[in-house]
Amino acid sequence: MTVPPAPQPAKAADSATGGEAAAGDEAVAAGILRRQRARESSARTYARSFPIVPARAKGMTIEGTDGRRYLDCLSGAGTLALGHNHPVVLEAIQRTLESGAPLHVLDLATPEKDDFTDALFDTLPKGFADRARIHFCGPAGTDAVEAALKLTQTVTGRRGVLAFTGAYHGMTAGALAVTGNVAAKERIAGGAGGAADVTRLPYPFSYRCPFGVGGERGAELSAAYTERLLDDPAGGVVRPAAMIVEPVQGEGGAVPAPDSWLRAMRRITAERDIPLIVDEVQTGVGRTGAFWAVEHSGVTPDVMVMSKAIGGSLPLAVIVYDRDYDAWLPGAHTGTFRGNTLAMATGAATLRYVTRHGLAERAATVGARMTARLEGLRHELPAIGDVRGRGLLIGVELVDAEGPVDSCGAHPAAPDLAERVRAACLDRGLIIELGGRFNATARLLPPLTITDEQAEAVLDRFTDAIARVSAEARAQGQAQPQPQAPTQQARQKQGR
Ligand SMILES: Cc1ncc(COP(=O)(O)O)c(C=O)c1O
Repeated sequence: MTVPPAPQPAKAADSATGGEAAAGDEAVAAGILRRQRARESSARTYARSFPIVPARAKGMTIEGTDGRRYLDCLSGAGTLALGHNHPVVLEAIQRTLESGAPLHVLDLATPEKDDFTDALFDTLPKGFADRARIHFCGPAGTDAVEAALKLTQTVTGRRGVLAFTGAYHGMTAGALAVTGNVAAKERIAGGAGGAADVTRLPYPFSYRCPFGVGGERGAELSAAYTERLLDDPAGGVVRPAAMIVEPVQGEGGAVPAPDSWLRAMRRITAERDIPLIVDEVQTGVGRTGAFWAVEHSGVTPDVMVMSKAIGGSLPLAVIVYDRDYDAWLPGAHTGTFRGNTLAMATGAATLRYVTRHGLAERAATVGARMTARLEGLRHELPAIGDVRGRGLLIGVELVDAEGPVDSCGAHPAAPDLAERVRAACLDRGLIIELGGRFNATARLLPPLTITDEQAEAVLDRFTDAIARVSAEARAQGQAQPQPQAPTQQARQKQGR
């Protein structure tokens, strides 16, 4: 695979190696990519979408070993609230290293952990912070999801979990069981359902409504169905240990739940003594325009799952829960890497920076502007089927505009077109990833520090890529696959 050209080659003095041998650097990159393909697992993902070799990064810009630069609209899958190598993050690392603090401490108390806990609790929704307990997990979102499921199962003495269509919660056994992505499960014997008895409920999704009606009515039906199912003595659902929900589905294609629906889920679970777990791994730390996405609806969960941005670029994952749920015995969810001193320092610095600089509000403003511009282009670019999301968690579903519309007015998803748009973006120096049903939704996850100029540049490159790929597809007269019969390749890649 060759490294694609980008429109902004770095100056030689800026280049990763500091030399002028661009051709030599390209050969180095090609060698690294070749060895990666030969040695790494076939499960690698982003490395397939972006055959580049990052050497340096700052803010929103990644520079390859060959000196080519890209605007990064993936941000470590939503991790980098402040972009790459932000000065406050680097300063926190340097300060911690110079202090001589131990870098690995299991779950012992340290000044860095104490400070991180202060910083995190300061951000929590009112009514939750006063009663909060925190558990430091293994440093990935998926381990925190496991902890949340296990905690609620322990507290309630029940086993089942209510989870939603389109959900993404991680790849370990319990997290995968509550994840919706069929392709990720169907190759595992038993379908990865062993860790929990999962009842799958319809997540409200206006454009691809599970009830075929869309809009507010679709969300109302989802809530009514949930309530009736739980109360139906012949509904087959034994009272579960928890409901787990994302306030905005990220990997599921940037699908926001209406606030009224989330409040309905809170009421339904509270009335039936079912703990509500809100997975804020991707939506947290300002991304959706509030520090925590639950704040939009005013819902107070029983357990919140947090990772990604809370570590300020470094791996960190926690659950925060109501003290009434603090029923674990010592060692109930242990793990070696729960005391990552550097991540606690960078995490605390990031949380405080986001608060002090009003970056959640900034995400709301810039996100609304970007979404409005994309909405305005739907006539000009009919491949844009739907523009959705919240704050700077934006999804653009690409469709076959020539295909039939369904009862909600949606055209068939166009995963092949989406794949070509992603590649055309890379050619134009823009990194965007796909997600959602059939892997046909372009996901824009820029850092919250994105400037107005960068936002414009992202949209210029993105829409230019869509225009070019659509024109090519029209010229080739290529029909896009129907959503009812996605290609095997698209099914395997959907959602990740
Ligand atoms: C909502 C949500 N939960 C959990 C996870 C899993 O996190 P990790 O990839 O760190 O295991 C993700 C990852 O994308 C996520 O978006």
